Amino acid sequence: MNEKNIIVGLDVGTTKVCTIVGLQHPNQELEIIGIGTHPSYGLKKGSVVNIDKTVRSIQSSLEEARLMAGVNISSATIGIAGSHIYSFNSSGVVAIKGKEITQDDVDRVLEAAKAVVIPSDRDILHVIPQEFRVDNTTGIKNPIGMCGVRLEAHVHIVTGSIPLIQNLVKCVEQTGVDAEHITLQPLASSEAVLSFEEKELGVVLIDIGGGTTDIAVWKDGSLIHSQIIPIGGNHFTNDLAVALKIPHNEAERIKINHGSVLAEQLNQSAHITVQGLSGTKPREVQLSVVAEVLGARAEELFDVIRLMIEDKKLHDQVAGGFVLTGGGALIKGMPELGEYILMRACKIGYPIPFGGMTNIMQNPKYSTVLGLLIEASKRKPYIPTQNQNANNHRVTFNSKDKDSTHTNTDLIGKLSESLKSVFKEIF
Ligand SMILES: Nc1ncnc2c1ncn2[C@@H]1O[C@H](COP(=O)(O)OP(=O)(O)OP(=O)(O)O)[C@@H](O)[C@H]1O
Ligand SMILES: [Mg+2]
Repeated sequence: MNEKNIIVGLDVGTTKVCTIVGLQHPNQELEIIGIGTHPSYGLKKGSVVNIDKTVRSIQSSLEEARLMAGVNISSATIGIAGSHIYSFNSSGVVAIKGKEITQDDVDRVLEAAKAVVIPSDRDILHVIPQEFRVDNTTGIKNPIGMCGVRLEAHVHIVTGSIPLIQNLVKCVEQTGVDAEHITLQPLASSEAVLSFEEKELGVVLIDIGGGTTDIAVWKDGSLIHSQIIPIGGNHFTNDLAVALKIPHNEAERIKINHGSVLAEQLNQSAHITVQGLSGTKPREVQLSVVAEVLGARAEELFDVIRLMIEDKKLHDQVAGGFVLTGGGALIKGMPELGEYILMRACKIGYPIPFGGMTNIMQNPKYSTVLGLLIEASKRKPYIPTQNQNANNHRVTFNSKDKDSTHTNTDLIGKLSESLKSVFKEIF
């Protein structure tokens, strides 16, 4: 096996850390050869709050994947979310220097588009072009080679808190693995779940994780809005634990096995037995009571999303409706309630299957990690064994890379490099 064709996606989530090892084949076919998942203990609402616990969870997940794949893991594409993420749209204009638009013009206009004032404790994670305009022609995806005098770029910019990004990178690198690239989690989930047609038509991806709900809104094939909402599946569990006065793990069991967000659909006389707090006896609870508690939280979440859609005036842009993914989407009745509140079609989004994928990965909670793997494979095409120049294909900010001119850069330097690599990838 050519280890240069090994790629790794690493999702450090609030409830689980998941590693997937993929093997690139010729024709860009991707085969999953290793999977590792481990409960996550060091994160809260998507951000690292305990370095040691996070490192241990990452280590265990990497070890499991490493053993299954039988290969060494030296670098990984990692996902980022958390309520510190802030995204906005921006635009820039430049005069075209020569007769035709060149890569240099595109670089300049993207620089102009990202020349906005952001607080000194934030860094830009992604600058994602939405469209270019050349003179009066709009909707251009790649302007290189076109003629004109004025080039305009409309972009979506994703920023994050530098210390919180550094904490995540630090945890990964303490396990001896390079954080090769950082990707916004809902971007990765979109990659795994949404079809080309959905992104063109207009669609909202809603990834309901344990600590956060991550939103990505697509239209005409471009990301037009992204947002992290600090409500996730754990809030549903906590509500149940408080309302029923039961331990957290019992609330989690009931939510997964008996939970629903639509009390009206249940047989009103149906009961379950729940284990109380220590020292109390098990007791009977009506299933409709469980559904009322979960339904109230789901309503709150969908209301936040509805207000966001109204505030950003996106409702008319998303004819493709809403796609729910992430483990939290699996509570019974979520698509139905979502459809009622959001007034558009709503469905569960499962990761689109690809080579070597076992049934176990066909679960919305693996959308992000599978998307990270797909993204990594797009950045790193198949390298034939004989190709001595193979490393030239790599687009990384790997500080251990001998070819890198940034050998001693610190984490902030790496993030800037990440941004440069985004430009290179897109064009
Ligand atoms: N079958 C199920 N039914 C209901 N809820 C589920 C089910 N499976 C998982 N969950 C819930 O999904 C949540 C975890 O989802 P996921 O694995 O996508 O989160 P994460 O990636 O660890 O967290 P985050 O993305 O917020 O950092 C938990 O709250 C869990 O209770
Ligand atoms: Mg997640």
